[in-house]
Amino acid sequence: MTHLVEMTGVQKSFGGVHAVDGANFHLDAGEVVGLLGHNGAGKSTLMALLAGALPLDAGSIRVDGRPVAIRSPRDARRLGIEALYQDLALADNLPASANLFLGRELTGRFGLLDEAAMERITHEVVHRVNPAFRDFQGPVKSLSGGERQSIAIGRAMHFEARVLILDEPTAALGPAETREVGRLVGRLRDQGLGIVLVSHDLHDVFRLSDRVVVMKAGCIVASRRTEDTHPDEVLEWIIAGAQRDAARGTPVRPESV
Ligand SMILES: Nc1ncnc2c1ncn2[C@@H]1O[C@H](COP(=O)(O)OP(=O)(O)O)[C@@H](O)[C@H]1O
Ligand SMILES: [Mg+2]
Repeated sequence: MTHLVEMTGVQKSFGGVHAVDGANFHLDAGEVVGLLGHNGAGKSTLMALLAGALPLDAGSIRVDGRPVAIRSPRDARRLGIEALYQDLALADNLPASANLFLGRELTGRFGLLDEAAMERITHEVVHRVNPAFRDFQGPVKSLSGGERQSIAIGRAMHFEARVLILDEPTAALGPAETREVGRLVGRLRDQGLGIVLVSHDLHDVFRLSDRVVVMKAGCIVASRRTEDTHPDEVLEWIIAGAQRDAARGTPVRPESV
């Protein structure tokens, strides 16, 4: 079966640290993968490789079965891969519309920025994500975590992302905003996006994901349909990885790579 995204044998080191050490990962359209693992397991680095924020040391990435070269976030976005980092990668001093179109500004006939069109589209898209959003004029640094998230997700929707990477999306959010992100993830999945939800929150992952993938020491140690596993089992993979299970004679076999 051809996956929407397939990463094979990917590696990334920082000096002597093997942050991602030969990981195999895939994502299908219309699925939410919860990517779990301890701090330092390599989750953010793996996703940064997919999003073009870091270059691969080794390994390959396929999109729709075709090998692709992702050397920059621009390359990734061209392939429909959008990432929301912990800091959401927004330009703090600019208003919502400038952030929604950051790097992909609309220009008019004479190559001038078409501010009016960008503002109109921003209103439309952000309100689809978050009907309560009000402050379109002020710098985004004065917005709440949930409002910032609305802009970043609106950006993914407007540019018709196919893959959305959410790295600890609810880390800076309150309970109501966290629920809102959960609803959005469900809606985007239903629209056919493949979504990677990076989290250390087992509860969030079990509530929102179709499949759970666990990383440990730069490797994928488990991949299981969420309905076929249990938080206790996943916790064990997070802590012990697959080796301990193998030693006990019950190796964890990711159902595919
Ligand atoms: N830019 C960087 N420079 C040096 N080391 C890094 C960098 N980014 C990540 N690392 C290291 O790589 C490992 C994996 O980190 P990371 O991918 O952030 O893990 P996670 O997101 O699972 O917490 C850690 O040991 C971390 O310290
Ligand atoms: Mg991280």
